[in-house]
Amino acid sequence: MTHAPSTPTPSTGWHWWRHAKLATMSDEPGSPAWGWCPQGDLLTHGDRIVWVGASEQAEAALQAHLPADERNLLGSTDLHGLLVTPGLIDAHTHLVYGGLRANEFEMRLKGATYEEIARAGGGIRSTVTATRAATEDELVASALGRARTLVADGVTTMEIKSGYGLSFEHEARCLRAARRVGDTLGLTVRVTGLAAHALPPEFDGRADAYIDAICDWLPRWHADGLLDAVDGFCENIGFSAAQMERVFRAAQALGLPVKLHAEQLSDQGGAALAARFNALSADHLEYLSDAGIAAMAAAGTVAMLLPGAYYYLRETKLPPIAALRAAGVPMAIATDHNPGTSPTLSLSLMLNMACTLFRLTPEEALAGATRHAATALGLGASHGQLRAGFRADFALWEVGHPNELAYRFGDRACRGTVIGGRRFSS
Ligand code: NIG
Ligand code: FE
Repeated sequence: MTHAPSTPTPSTGWHWWRHAKLATMSDEPGSPAWGWCPQGDLLTHGDRIVWVGASEQAEAALQAHLPADERNLLGSTDLHGLLVTPGLIDAHTHLVYGGLRANEFEMRLKGATYEEIARAGGGIRSTVTATRAATEDELVASALGRARTLVADGVTTMEIKSGYGLSFEHEARCLRAARRVGDTLGLTVRVTGLAAHALPPEFDGRADAYIDAICDWLPRWHADGLLDAVDGFCENIGFSAAQMERVFRAAQALGLPVKLHAEQLSDQGGAALAARFNALSADHLEYLSDAGIAAMAAAGTVAMLLPGAYYYLRETKLPPIAALRAAGVPMAIATDHNPGTSPTLSLSLMLNMACTLFRLTPEEALAGATRHAATALGLGASHGQLRAGFRADFALWEVGHPNELAYRFGDRACRGTVIGGRRFSS
């Protein structure tokens, strides 16, 4: 059984969004840089965009699209010159967990490394303990608070991974909590099973037996409609490429797309493995090899860049941005929100960090948090662009030009979001 992504109740009728500046981020042939339109309008019907274009053409568009007898149902909003972009898409988050890890932040400031803390039973495992101790309602409540903070910063679609339960029932609880976040807020949430995140204590010394268990659990979670994709942590403190391949085969047998935390701390050949399984994305990629880049380019696998984790771990090895660009691999940007390596809830801050740390252009960064992020969730035909037929999900910004979104940092310029054709209010 497949579960449709959570979507809001469609608003009734037609809506005319007027007096905006637009950065459509459309990749239609002939679109200008940014899809820039300094005086633009949008027409939406229910949860879809019907028309987007220059304000001076809006009346003609209304005539063409709106049946005369529905004209009295036309709502309208004056946006007073705000910039409208596609709603941001945070395509890599670990939003569901118990507890925090501020103590480990202090330990790392005193010299301990992320790997040392993990090997000593901290890191992911300490969050697993706190997550298992929480009820599903508690997990939903804390994740909802985080999701609302992301939305206040312009996010209208997000991916949420499990990965801190690490048993059949605890992972199921996290996956259900992720679904409930989407249903409660009425936004598109893609739920990813990340049981292959770390070895739980009850499988100590038996990593292959844990992989067998995951392969047994996947069909049962899938039968309950809890999975949209399957992920893993391919690393010397996670799982080997051979172990991840077994998980991917089980996912493939269910028709589920895969993705992978690959080449974050070392080169494990994870990106090439992911590409062999036509992965939606390979994520992190600081230690990505030329062979990995070539495999991703051939498979159309998105490079999911996570500047928050790079910054927070004080990594010095950069992902191979120039080579990815030259190979034509689409680059997405996400928060990687998690309690250990990236406790940020601002995707707009990641736009800036993708430029300052990774040297993306501001336009590449915004494309990475909209159009390419949509592709990385398998939603490229419906999300991430302001374009007729696409979902009416957009973010409103008090800035003069879209290049200011990456130029500013820590400056919350978002003035609201429209999700499924409706002004979002939490
Ligand atoms: O994406 N790399 C593995 N997973 C997370 C970190 C998880 C944690 O430390 O809790 C990441 O960075
Ligand atoms: Fe992650």
